[in-house]
Amino acid sequence: MSDRLFIFDTTLRDGEQVPGCQLNTIEKIQVAKQLEALGVDVIEAGFPISSPGDFNSVIEISKAVTWPTICALTRAVQKDIDVAADALKYAKHKRIHTGIGTSDSHIKYKFNSNREEIIERAVAAVKYAKRYVEDVEFYAEDAGRTDNEYLARVVNAVTKAGATVVNIPDTTGFRVPSEYGEKIKYLVEHCEDIQSGKAILSTHCHNDLGMATANTVAGALNGARQVEVTINGIGERAGNTSLEEVAMIFKTHPDLGIETNINTTKIYPTSRMVSSLMNMPVQPNKAIVGKNAFAHSSGIHQDGVLKNAKTYEIMDPKDVGIDDNAIVLTARSGRAALKHRLHVNGVEVDGDRLDSIYQAFLQLADKKKEVTDDDVLVLAGANRADSRAIKLDFLQVSTGMGGHKCVASLGLDISGQKFESCSTGNGPVDAAIRALKKIIIKEMVLKEFTIQAISKGSDDVGKVHMQVEYDNHVYYGFGADTDVVRASLEAYIDCINKFR
Ligand code: KIV
Ligand code: ZN
Repeated sequence: MSDRLFIFDTTLRDGEQVPGCQLNTIEKIQVAKQLEALGVDVIEAGFPISSPGDFNSVIEISKAVTWPTICALTRAVQKDIDVAADALKYAKHKRIHTGIGTSDSHIKYKFNSNREEIIERAVAAVKYAKRYVEDVEFYAEDAGRTDNEYLARVVNAVTKAGATVVNIPDTTGFRVPSEYGEKIKYLVEHCEDIQSGKAILSTHCHNDLGMATANTVAGALNGARQVEVTINGIGERAGNTSLEEVAMIFKTHPDLGIETNINTTKIYPTSRMVSSLMNMPVQPNKAIVGKNAFAHSSGIHQDGVLKNAKTYEIMDPKDVGIDDNAIVLTARSGRAALKHRLHVNGVEVDGDRLDSIYQAFLQLADKKKEVTDDDVLVLAGANRADSRAIKLDFLQVSTGMGGHKCVASLGLDISGQKFESCSTGNGPVDAAIRALKKIIIKEMVLKEFTIQAISKGSDDVGKVHMQVEYDNHVYYGFGADTDVVRASLEAYIDCINKFR
């Protein structure tokens, strides 16, 4: 019989901490419902004390979701725990995730404390959280760099105080898989409540050295019974362990004797949804969900796959929800078909919002023969920005060759007032941004600029991500259009609309 591995998804907490990935409450509910359909066991919905937005999201996700446990993060501080308990009041199954740094550097530099005092604070926090909920998870922050003997003392102390799960984060992504696996094994062997099954260990690995998934798998193979992961591996710095990789590793290796509850056919739509809502592109060669993950380009591989897919494919793309026969929409598709495709991708729209997305869809379908799921997600995302103060009214560009300069003229609508301007530039995007800067005169600097085509074909929608620095803050913007110059300008305007 296989061991059951619990999947704890932290896309909405550790993943959402990434600058530019912030979601509003409605978007978080969409993601949470999709995670429920995917079959995750625990959803970490936020860090309620950190902001009113996080507090409210935990409340609303608790109301919207039925089966998964809803978890709220806290520091080992009473006020944090009070606020988390309040935010969880509507959850059908609830967990408080509290903790403190346990490595010598955290103890010395973060807390100016000592090992004994940290154990006391850890125990006090767990006992305090137990007043509110039965299910308390404790995290030993920077456990990756905490010495194993002391870490075992921490684990024993918090499980005696009532912790049901103890999280062993490799917060800095420093450990190699053999070391992380050894750490988990050591804790299983030296912690009575873990051995007896009264409490379980959890992995939480960051990807700074590209080893998050390998470390997580090593942890599970050495006795951890929960893994903390995010969709597409998003998260602080180089990210967290990606859910899809762990789920597919155990599915394609039943011999490892570990099972999850993940409905893997929902992986791809979930990945698309998170990428689209968070405006966070997935790298094309990303395992499982990248655009090229199942694309065979070399002649030898193509020949083999045509003879028998098993020659070069270790997974069936359908098992992760990539369906080549998925219905594509065309200009003749109606509102119902559009609503259905959005529903399949976890986006529920009705009434006026459906109407306005449908109008945008018809315009796109006029320019592009087939409209894909990615396109409709982008349209639904762009529709969220309709209420912004600055809007692009028109844009005309002429590209220059043979000594001629690029010229752009554009019109902006700023809270109902119309402005027009034109400029030359060293390329069409440069000309358009220079024209815009003649209307919006602010000290702003373009720091990053990426253009990505969604699928294939010269009629494809280009997605543009930008970072603009203004007043010592970096703002993230997104634009999508079949015209990449327009998409670029829209992304720039999206940044400006966020200036505080
Ligand atoms: O990486 C980490 O240590 C964390 C904890 C707060 C669980 O995210
Ligand atoms: Zn983390």
